[in-house]
Amino acid sequence: MLLDLIANREVLFVGGKGGVGKTTVASALALSAARAGRHTLVVSTDPAHNLGHLWGRPVGDEPVRLAEGLDGLEIDPQRTTDEHLAAVGSTMRRLMPERLSGEVRKHLDLARDAPGTHEAAVLERIAETVEQAQGRYELVVFDTAPSGHTARLMSLPETMAAWTDGLLRRQARSEKFGAALRGLGGDRDDPGEAILGDTRAGTGEPRDRVDRRARRDQEIRRVLVRRQLRFEGLRELITDPARTVFLIVLTAERLPVLETVELHEQLARSGVAVGALVVNKRSPSDEGEFLAARREQESAHLAELTRALPEVPQVELPLRGGDVVGPEAIGRFADGFGEVPKN
Ligand SMILES: Nc1ncnc2c1ncn2[C@@H]1O[C@H](COP(=O)(O)OP(=O)(O)O)[C@@H](O)[C@H]1O
Ligand SMILES: [Mg+2]
Repeated sequence: MLLDLIANREVLFVGGKGGVGKTTVASALALSAARAGRHTLVVSTDPAHNLGHLWGRPVGDEPVRLAEGLDGLEIDPQRTTDEHLAAVGSTMRRLMPERLSGEVRKHLDLARDAPGTHEAAVLERIAETVEQAQGRYELVVFDTAPSGHTARLMSLPETMAAWTDGLLRRQARSEKFGAALRGLGGDRDDPGEAILGDTRAGTGEPRDRVDRRARRDQEIRRVLVRRQLRFEGLRELITDPARTVFLIVLTAERLPVLETVELHEQLARSGVAVGALVVNKRSPSDEGEFLAARREQESAHLAELTRALPEVPQVELPLRGGDVVGPEAIGRFADGFGEVPKN
């Protein structure tokens, strides 16, 4: 069932509460895909990374080989945010009039800690990873951060596309405004240009300066349009159930069930469909009274889950005697998914 769900998809997102087994399930599914001959990349977007711990080797911000046909990568949120802001800053400085450079710096300082910056940076990185994976990987598996974070992330492409759209419209307005100002001869925004250009005070602008400004406006537009296309592309991808599948992992306990229902609702609002609910660490019925009683209790919670989300298939994975650590243990976990379907 799980392997059928990922068989022809390009992207798999694995979400859910902390500690339920997201990284384990994401890694084992990624390994199954690799075993089926699909070149696969597993990417952790959870600031509390444990991909490296699970595979028993360091995994960082660049892809490393985890198994044959399988690479892994942990997005470093701080580095991603810093790089993101540095890139935004250098674009802004290049494109904005000199007199606004103080504003740019202030904006970036504020942005560093502003709510959403972090997520915007991680989102941009996700979009970039998906773009770079084209032609290199047949499947990208995202091992995501706990629920709330991921739900916001999934709604972000739409917000960001609207935001860049707003900026584009503002830019169009300010272009007109600037042109009007220049007509009045009151524009002294760039002393460098004023020195370089052949300025005749109060009598409008020399041709080359007008050309330079037009080029700059065009470049701003190009940068914004590129970002907007990137977010729209990601949005299209994650809302297309033929290309993307989202799995929610949970344990059959009260809070994970409640969080699953909530995450499902938030994802639905963002247009992201959930392919299956993966109920991990299911207690056995035939290993003594204690575990049998646990299983009964779990079944009551799962009945609740079925009532809340009757349409979404549930897949159960058994509780194992020990932690899943190292490639061999992940391999055994992947064996539990059954036969690998041939594409
Ligand atoms: N089916 C299972 N049986 C026993 N232990 C499991 C099972 N699935 C995951 N674990 C263990 O549970 C812990 C949390 O798993 P992990 O995948 O890191 O969760 P998450 O990424 O959701 O925080 C790990 O120690 C892992 O080995
Ligand atoms: Mg994890």
